[in-house]
Amino acid sequence: MKILTTIKELQEARNEIEGSVGFVPTMGALHDGHISLIRKARAENQTVFVSIFVNPTQFLPGEDLDAYPRKEQADKKICEMCKVDYLFMPDATTMYGEDEVLIKAPSKSYILEGKTRPGHFDGVLQVVLKLFGLVQPTNAYFGKKDAQQLSLIQQMAKNLFLSVNVVPCDIVRESDGLAMSSRNIYLSKEQRRDAIAISKSLYTAAALVSKKEFDIETIKNRMMQVMENLDVEYIAFVNREFNELKQIEVGNSIILIVARFGSVRLLDNMWI
Ligand code: PAJ
Repeated sequence: MKILTTIKELQEARNEIEGSVGFVPTMGALHDGHISLIRKARAENQTVFVSIFVNPTQFLPGEDLDAYPRKEQADKKICEMCKVDYLFMPDATTMYGEDEVLIKAPSKSYILEGKTRPGHFDGVLQVVLKLFGLVQPTNAYFGKKDAQQLSLIQQMAKNLFLSVNVVPCDIVRESDGLAMSSRNIYLSKEQRRDAIAISKSLYTAAALVSKKEFDIETIKNRMMQVMENLDVEYIAFVNREFNELKQIEVGNSIILIVARFGSVRLLDNMWI
């Protein structure tokens, strides 16, 4: 595996490559969720690039940019084990100059996650577009865990006529159901135990739908019962384009949850 830190190194490496390129952008502190994306990229492409970059433009003032977990050495080992060809680890001054051309995410970036974190998705799209420009991937892998991010990246690829295939990947969970996240390490023992209710409520919703219950209020009430001890920021029912649903449409629905544990926000969702 080659580790690249400069734009020149990356571009020189990219120029030598023929055949399909799979790309997994990350912010590091890699866990089994990231690893599943890397394995899929490895299985489906001739060459695999992973990037690790804690992107400052997607953090709002006061968010956890400085405290975001950084595990460089462990991450390098994981990428080697997964047979990654190129690991790109730039610093912020490599990725950004002053007074840049900016990307403005569409209005659906200001609902749900974008409502709590206005401007967050502008930063996500900015860095993903830069990384796509550098790596020029055939296939780029994103987790359904960050469903709104995935949907906006798919829209960006379409709107800007990018010749990249955006590949959605299933959510990887702990054995008790909690969706894996780099932020789970912030949870206390008690919070970690309580957090199971998030995925439980999603499984409750899925079970109701399988019994042909499509009414959103009914499903939401049952989910809130399961999460009665949690500080739920939102439960949302959207279609795959992130428009609000009036009732569940099987094959075209996503149920999203954000719950707060002190300053930690945990996201989860289920595609129905
Ligand atoms: P990060 O949070 O590191 O996530 C990198 C990728 O891993 C994302 O596509 C995310 O959806 C996926 N992922 C995280 N947890 C997952 C899980 N439990 N199961 C499946 N996939 C999971 O998302 C970002 O970084 C950044 O916003 C980025 C796209 C890299 C731009 O900076």
